[in-house]
Amino acid sequence: MLRAIYPGSFDPVTYGHLDIIMRSSEIADELIVGVLNNNAKSPLFSVEERVKMLKEVTKNMPKVTVVSFEGLLVDFARKMNAGAVIRGLRAITDFEYEFQLAQTNRKLEAGVETLFLTTSLEYSYLSSTTVKEIASFGGDISQFVPAYVESRIQEKIKKRRV
Ligand code: PNS
Repeated sequence: MLRAIYPGSFDPVTYGHLDIIMRSSEIADELIVGVLNNNAKSPLFSVEERVKMLKEVTKNMPKVTVVSFEGLLVDFARKMNAGAVIRGLRAITDFEYEFQLAQTNRKLEAGVETLFLTTSLEYSYLSSTTVKEIASFGGDISQFVPAYVESRIQEKIKKRRV
């Protein structure tokens, strides 16, 4: 049985993340989406808000659960009894960071393997950062995030302007 973790900041979840979630839940028996609680990154959304959005957009995926975590990913993986970490690779520019992360995690905890899925081509350019930037300038983000997430971003941006 393969229980895998798909970790990330998810600030907020995009169609690129959802593509990886859907495809990796075909491979794993159970998929835990691990949402990093790290205020040092000054996220737009609190960890609770990010978890809520992920739960909403994965509600029809029975193999998927969404959990927040703090500290080291390998500790979270051990606590969850997960044998694999899933990461998406969008382009060659992701490779160096992802390679470092995977090697470090394997050094810290030999039992946790990192599996990479290449992002579907249509989302290979997409990131949460770009989505937030487009939204902050009033651009249309409907093709990048689910409608529920789009509404939460618009609300947040409006509140920040007040
Ligand atoms: O979506 P992101 O921001 O690219 O995700 C990065 C994440 C959450 C996978 C990474 O920052 C992480 O695992 N952080 C937890 C701390 C940790 O275990 N770091 C690895 C040792 S360098």
